[in-house]
Amino acid sequence: MRNDLVLDRLAVPIVLAPLAGGPSTPERTRTLTEAPVGVNLFVPGTPAPPGTADAYAARLADDARQAGVELGAARFEDDDWAAKLELLIATPVTVVSFTFGCPEPEVIDRLHGAGSEVWVTVTRPGESRIAVDAGADALVVQGAEAGGHRASFRDDPADDLTDGIGLLSLLQLVGAQADVPLVATGGIGTGAAIAAVLAAGAAAAQLGTAFLRCPEAGTAAVHRQALAGSAPTAMTRAFTGRLARGIRNRFLDNYSAAAPAAYPEVHHLTAPLRQAGRAADDPGLVNLWAGQTFELGRQLPAGQLVLTLAEEARAALQRARGRLGPPVGAAADEAGSGTEGP
Ligand SMILES: Cc1cc2nc3c(=O)[nH]c(=O)nc-3n(C[C@H](O)[C@H](O)[C@H](O)COP(=O)(O)O)c2cc1C
Repeated sequence: MRNDLVLDRLAVPIVLAPLAGGPSTPERTRTLTEAPVGVNLFVPGTPAPPGTADAYAARLADDARQAGVELGAARFEDDDWAAKLELLIATPVTVVSFTFGCPEPEVIDRLHGAGSEVWVTVTRPGESRIAVDAGADALVVQGAEAGGHRASFRDDPADDLTDGIGLLSLLQLVGAQADVPLVATGGIGTGAAIAAVLAAGAAAAQLGTAFLRCPEAGTAAVHRQALAGSAPTAMTRAFTGRLARGIRNRFLDNYSAAAPAAYPEVHHLTAPLRQAGRAADDPGLVNLWAGQTFELGRQLPAGQLVLTLAEEARAALQRARGRLGPPVGAAADEAGSGTEGP
């Protein structure tokens, strides 16, 4: 285990989750801060068999007509994987994190050579073993409560029957076998939950949804409105072809059952619809990614939110300590330490 990780140098053990699709505004990061930053890459999957999204596209045709847009082409691409890696080797950042899979050990070696540490997001114990064997310095442990895409290495509908593993369970399972620091993520909306994951062995908490309502976030207006409400969340492939958690709306309810597992093909197919929904302020068409505790989100500047969360976490740990009381031995010692000492 490396002992020079950024996780050991954080002023507070809180990490901002990667938030693709608008909320993250990375264009100006280097001009805004000298603090450590991370870059998150999607590990490419494999193309779906030709025609996989055809029937789904036909079902969406009416919605597209009503929104006045053409559906996108259901195409596969690798999110410029090779070019992004080359850029990260040429202009390194403190942390490179991965989702949707584990890069080959050679990729991790190259990033280490460039001076970056590598975090791999995992959703089950088997994935954590693969990531540690490949050379990951830390694991982002994503519980099923998380907003946005599930980070699983494969998105196999056959696995849906088993549900996802909740964060506290996953932290215990991964912690029992992985000897690298863990960054806990999924459904953490308060300082008390940060305290809980630290107590369960995490080195830091990573929050996504909690930051979506910050003024600095590029979150779309329709998304912000939904985050201020209290509709339930659900897992769906309807928007992108990959399982993700969002606030239930018309599109999610109408199309989740029909959506095929085909990412990023379905992402490209529905992109014009979602764009039209954002432009027309129609929340029924937009992917409203959110974790299970989104209702607790606060509309605070990001810096202030971090300080508030840290303070809440300290208070929560103190309360928990008070409940536990002193260790049994210590209580006995105290009782026995009268005037007649040895
Ligand atoms: C709007 C949104 C976008 C996200 N984009 C990414 C992403 O690009 N890469 C990634 O690894 N995780 C992404 N996630 C998942 C987060 O990294 C994290 O696992 C999740 O936000 C944690 O759960 P929480 O939202 O309840 O805090 C996204 C989540 C949301 C809500």
